Amino acid sequence: MLIYLNGKYLDYTQAQVPVDERGLQFADGIYEVALIWGGQFVDLDRHLERLERSAAGIELDMPLSRSEIREIAAELLRREPQKQAALYLQITRGVAPRDHRFPDQAKPTVIAYIKDAPVDHVALQQGVKAITEPDLRWLRCDIKSVSLLPNVLARQHAAQRGVREAIQVRAGVGVTEGSATNIWMVHQGSIVTAPASNWILSGIVRSVVLELARAEKLPVAERFASAEELFQMDEVFLTSTTSFVMPIIEIDGKKVGDGEPGPVTLRLQELYLERLDQIAHVTLG
Ligand code: PDD
Repeated sequence: MLIYLNGKYLDYTQAQVPVDERGLQFADGIYEVALIWGGQFVDLDRHLERLERSAAGIELDMPLSRSEIREIAAELLRREPQKQAALYLQITRGVAPRDHRFPDQAKPTVIAYIKDAPVDHVALQQGVKAITEPDLRWLRCDIKSVSLLPNVLARQHAAQRGVREAIQVRAGVGVTEGSATNIWMVHQGSIVTAPASNWILSGIVRSVVLELARAEKLPVAERFASAEELFQMDEVFLTSTTSFVMPIIEIDGKKVGDGEPGPVTLRLQELYLERLDQIAHVTLG
């Protein structure tokens, strides 16, 4: 595997950072995951725009311009061509003797590589199960920070229960999002998803699915549903860069609706997959 690290393209075994790298010691960094589909980057600009917002959120000056990052991504893909994969990109505050304050001299560490991201066709068709978990995260979930411990714990609890995702519920707020996905609900044809706010990561797929739903004239409300409401919904689904639009058919051992993927979910999934194929096709053509 090829790794971009601070200006160099290195073999995986050569790409190393010192122990006082701030990403390692403080999780003092941000990241992005972008899809490669049909050998093309999908919505890379939206990801880079969010990366810049995340950098501003942690008061980090971006060490690279958007076009420089695009060039790194393209170079990785040129050297290791892949049809279906994901770009992982991480920027931290760099290497410095351990001290909570920002270092004066450190240069941000930039890491990028392309990783496998197989599509789970069975899960897309048949749906997945989930549990609910208390949302234990900080108050800036809009920043795509590498500080992911509560998300890691939530996802691990889901895995221990043999299910795919943990739907996080914030006390006093309601249903926020999954451990690494946005959560959507459908009640009597109306779609509900948490509003873009400090309580969720505003997903790129979320923004695309909102556009697709509105173009289809499907009613959408961006609001927080309560945990009780979650169990009254006809359909629930999740979205993310690597999961696309995936039905959730059971939550905490209870069926969602009739326990089958619902029509609104499947329609949005179809529109989303069509859009992916259009992007791959148009860019190729
Ligand atoms: N996860 N919410 C959280 C907390 C996430 O970590 C993610 C993405 C999403 C969905 O965002 P998007 O549609 O931009 O992928 C929502 C990535 C894929 C990850 O951490 O691997």
